[in-house]
Amino acid sequence: MASNLARNAPMIAAAGGIYVAACYIGYSAVQKNKADIEETELTIQTGDNFSFISNPNRTDQFQNVAAKYDDEIGRDESVMGINLLRRSLLYFHAKGTVLEVGAGTGRNIPYYPSSSVDRVLMTDSSDKMLAQARKKIQNIERPKFACRVGDCTTLDEFPDQCFDTVVDTFGLCSYQNPVNVLKEMKRVCKPDGKILLLEHGRSKTWDFITKYLDKNAERHAKNWGCVWNRDLDQIVEESGLQLETLHTWHFGTTYYMVCRPGTARR
Ligand SMILES: C[S@@+](CC[C@H](N)C(=O)[O-])C[C@H]1O[C@@H](n2cnc3c(N)ncnc32)[C@H](O)[C@@H]1O
Repeated sequence: MASNLARNAPMIAAAGGIYVAACYIGYSAVQKNKADIEETELTIQTGDNFSFISNPNRTDQFQNVAAKYDDEIGRDESVMGINLLRRSLLYFHAKGTVLEVGAGTGRNIPYYPSSSVDRVLMTDSSDKMLAQARKKIQNIERPKFACRVGDCTTLDEFPDQCFDTVVDTFGLCSYQNPVNVLKEMKRVCKPDGKILLLEHGRSKTWDFITKYLDKNAERHAKNWGCVWNRDLDQIVEESGLQLETLHTWHFGTTYYMVCRPGTARR
């Protein structure tokens, strides 16, 4: 039985991968049709050369989707096993006092281990996204959670090296300047602390997936404020973080990264 399983493992893994990709692409296609039919509710002023990929008012987009965010994203994440990745990243690596940037609706809240994490400060530039997170933390005693509205491009309110762990999940796709955000995360992280990233970006191994992401980047950015085809290796490298662990999932589009702040502070 065990040897049969071992023999068939590559086939099972391939079938699983194809299933997940089919769900992902299928779901994206459904979202596209829905967006085409329903007309987006965005109230952002757009000019001739406007692109949602470089939209400087991205927070407005999240203000617009905050109420439906968990319902819509939750389905995607369950199908793709994202919750397991969130759990694993935080269970194995988060400890002490944590800063989470771009925390959104607080989708990581259930996964912070109370045994090793004392408190978590969640920040986001969208008060409506954070309002959803606030509802979730009301009855949690440990770890202690707090929410604060703020722009993570400049974390000026925090001194250097003050957090044990700094977390960002699915935020680098949304920030106007992801490299600057990582540099700030690095600055506020203690020298022996960790910077934890769970992100999506372009696949380096599956060309047809990356072509699909590129082709649909503008539409996806319009619907979700997320630029899903960014080059994450390059972004992390430019930030000067020391990459300690990297796993990729979903045909190389989901990045699970454990980083150290390294020596250079800014
Ligand atoms: C795709 S959502 C991810 C939310 C959450 N981290 C998660 O894992 O579900 C990106 C979040 O980044 C926030 N955001 C975008 N630009 C920001 C900025 N400059 N400063 C702080 N938050 C920002 C948005 O408001 C949004 O809540």
